[in-house]
Amino acid sequence: MVKVAVISGSLRKEAVSTKIAKNVAELFPPEFETELVEIGNLPVFDQDYEEEGNTPEEYTRFRNTMKEVDAVLFVTPEYNRSIPSALKNVLDVGSRPYGESIWNGKPAAIISQSPGNLSGFGANHHLRQILTFLNMPSVQQPEVYLASSFDLLDDNGKFKEEGTVQFLQSFVDVFIDLIKRYQA
Ligand SMILES: Cc1cc2nc3c(=O)[nH]c(=O)nc-3n(C[C@H](O)[C@H](O)[C@H](O)COP(=O)(O)O)c2cc1C
Repeated sequence: MVKVAVISGSLRKEAVSTKIAKNVAELFPPEFETELVEIGNLPVFDQDYEEEGNTPEEYTRFRNTMKEVDAVLFVTPEYNRSIPSALKNVLDVGSRPYGESIWNGKPAAIISQSPGNLSGFGANHHLRQILTFLNMPSVQQPEVYLASSFDLLDDNGKFKEEGTVQFLQSFVDVFIDLIKRYQA
């Protein structure tokens, strides 16, 4: 079984990012296990936590979960033309202790969304910059910028349009090819 962690950049209960993430998780074939990983419980990163005996247990739990994962799907809104702080926090937490980053070498894919027309371009590319440094080979094409994201979902939180599903399926298929290349 290939494990894919799904990380939503939004903590709010009704987050469109999380709803989109759940829809996209269903597009993976049965031999892929997707898991929505909680990030809202992680204390804000403080380098003093790296001292022996000082590691928050939420960090240890998160790092242990992520060590078992083969790939990561990020779905994020844009906050002030960048990624939300909760998402940056989890990237920082996972990157330490130095030399033991849980991100290293894991294939990744990015979806950004916004309720307006801009579709989270700034967040998407700031995240891309970070993933480059974290050594996460990422899906380049198709890029996924979802505009008018609140209009994409019905009352049950499902995509309204078959065209949206088809586009995201083509994105997931490319991601699967990338993951398989790194499994070999
Ligand atoms: C602190 C803050 C900053 C925001 N900055 C941006 C922004 O730079 N660009 C944008 O398109 N939307 C911005 N928004 C609006 C978000 O796109 C909107 O809240 C979005 O729905 C959040 O996604 P969610 O439903 O997954 O929480 C901002 C919202 C907040 C709370």
